Amino acid sequence: MKFFMDTANVEAIRKYAALGMVDGITTNPTIIARSGRNHEQVIRDISAAIAGPVSVEGIGQTAEEIVKEAEVFSKWGNNIVIKVAMNEEGLRAVRILSGKGLKTNVTLVFSASQALLAAKAGATYVSPFVGRLDDAGVDGMQLIRDIMDIYKNYGFKTEVIVASVRSTKHVEEAAKAGAHIATIPDKVFAEMWKHPLTDKGIAQFLDDHARSKSNK
Ligand code: G3P
Repeated sequence: MKFFMDTANVEAIRKYAALGMVDGITTNPTIIARSGRNHEQVIRDISAAIAGPVSVEGIGQTAEEIVKEAEVFSKWGNNIVIKVAMNEEGLRAVRILSGKGLKTNVTLVFSASQALLAAKAGATYVSPFVGRLDDAGVDGMQLIRDIMDIYKNYGFKTEVIVASVRSTKHVEEAAKAGAHIATIPDKVFAEMWKHPLTDKGIAQFLDDHARSKSNK
């Protein structure tokens, strides 16, 4: 399973990349706005910080606009993936971009039909949003299981990025569903190695070691 980070926090990316835990990065306009930095500059920094794919999303609404933006984004690094919103124009853009050999990530996916279309259009990645579905009272992880089944039935090569991850539980469930990738916000990443019983166990072992050292 690959771990992507869903962030534009370059410091956090470098920190977790040094642990060998970061296989790629996903961003969106909200994440970029939250970083308080210039879009191009922050993407260039991220792209230089890791070798894996970096998803970049624009604001183009027609296939032509999306393709034009993609040509600009592709110059910001050698690992850029074009993130394209799921709709008819987006699908047209994905077809054109894959024809040009550019990698794509179809985003804002909330149904299995949308994921099926993204795969048929030749998307490199598809990003179903589990957290936002959960928020709307729908089981987001069931969508991941459905997409994995569908892709396996037909041997689609498109990789599933579990997005809108809100908790470590989401990452665990994504792994159980066999998803290729989970894209994890830095806050959730930092929680993945923590468990209160681990901390308690370490404290107890240190205590016991100190006591046994005083034995003659
Ligand atoms: O990058 C797309 C996705 O992960 C956004 O998540 O938390 O805004 O629903 P969220």
